[in-house]
Amino acid sequence: MRVLFVCLGNICRSPLAEGVAREILRRDAPWAAVTVDSAGTAGYHLGAPPDARAQAAAASRGFNSAGHRARAVTRADFDQFELILAMDHANLAALQALAPRSGLARVQLLLDLAPRVGVREVPDPYYGGPEDFEQVLNLVEQGTRGLIEYLRNTAAVEPPR
Ligand code: 4NP
Repeated sequence: MRVLFVCLGNICRSPLAEGVAREILRRDAPWAAVTVDSAGTAGYHLGAPPDARAQAAAASRGFNSAGHRARAVTRADFDQFELILAMDHANLAALQALAPRSGLARVQLLLDLAPRVGVREVPDPYYGGPEDFEQVLNLVEQGTRGLIEYLRNTAAVEPPR
């Protein structure tokens, strides 16, 4: 299973989601054999590492996004990933506008995998403070828990309980 996390700039939310999901899935759902990546719907920061504030917030919880370099979503991504998870409605709409008719990917909001969270968007922290990056981490951790539930429910092989 290949999962792509998508935000606007691919320097804050989606690289955090990628780093968090890679670690939590490795620890808690190795049976799911998920590979993760991230991309942005805008190309403002192509080739840039994650925002320093995002990297600091990730490191404080034992996650790591440092190796990622920002890239833009491409039409080919819709055939290379089974699941494409947008951080907010604006990015979901941008994905839906870009999607080829024949694309195989399921495209949806990340937090729709975690309905108990009660919010559907991971807010853009770029113009915010450290607490906004903490909130991003809280939400993408919960989104990853929801992703594991989704993978349990759709797994071809019975996952361990
Ligand atoms: P991200 O945050 O979409 O979570 O990576 C942003 C990064 C850059 C900008 C906006 C949001 N920007 O306007 O440059």
